[in-house]
Amino acid sequence: MRKQIAAANWKMNLTLTQGEQLLDTVLAKHHALTTDQQVVFAVPFPYLQAAQQKVAGRENVFVAAQNCYSKKSGAYTGEVSVEMLQSLGVQVAVIGHSERREYFNESNRFLAEKINICLEYSITPIFCCGEPLQIREAIMQNEFVKNQMEESLFHLSAEQIKKLVIAYEPIWAIGTGKTATSEQAQDMQAYLRNVLADKYGDAVAEKISILYGGSVKANNANELFSQRDVDGGLVGGASIIADEFVAIINALK
Ligand code: 13P
Repeated sequence: MRKQIAAANWKMNLTLTQGEQLLDTVLAKHHALTTDQQVVFAVPFPYLQAAQQKVAGRENVFVAAQNCYSKKSGAYTGEVSVEMLQSLGVQVAVIGHSERREYFNESNRFLAEKINICLEYSITPIFCCGEPLQIREAIMQNEFVKNQMEESLFHLSAEQIKKLVIAYEPIWAIGTGKTATSEQAQDMQAYLRNVLADKYGDAVAEKISILYGGSVKANNANELFSQRDVDGGLVGGASIIADEFVAIINALK
């Protein structure tokens, strides 16, 4: 079975103390994870080390960075390298979140460089893709998201792409309370798996976890996660409310 993943994206929220309390509560309350289930906490850079300490020794629980830079090291003031992440024991990084694409102009080609450097340093990228509202209204979402994958990922070998997690996050559903229906999520994610299968073969495509993101809450997680091609969620707002995120973890297949 593919890994089923509940990933929290705290974005730019919470103080250190609030974050530590949230981690303590969530870790104390969620059900035991099966070997096919994982929990990920994408926390702000300054909290990575504290979060690593909190999850230390827990199977299938990981801390993630919300971003990283595309270069190994050097004069890039304010940026964070994968080598730095690795030195903290961080094994996962969110790459290409729509907020990075929109506010920091991250292009598909630039994200390809970030994917490469993550893989070089054995950091699992959670690669985000998803269309804006105008594209959905024009019913061009499949082509749009396929193009994001082609430009950022399709230079990878089959061995490399198997190491990725993909998160489909329609931009119109992020932070809006307007979740994609489970049918819309399933349709797109089945399509993305087909695109992966065309390029890399069925066996590879079947191994890649594809998460849904966009207003995932305790009250819709069960239905979303029950879809065949929805292997969990990347969760923003509901991930910083302990009881909500615990329920979302407990909804994993
Ligand atoms: P919300 O869950 O707040 O809609 O955010 C989704 C998201 O962007 C996760 O990365």
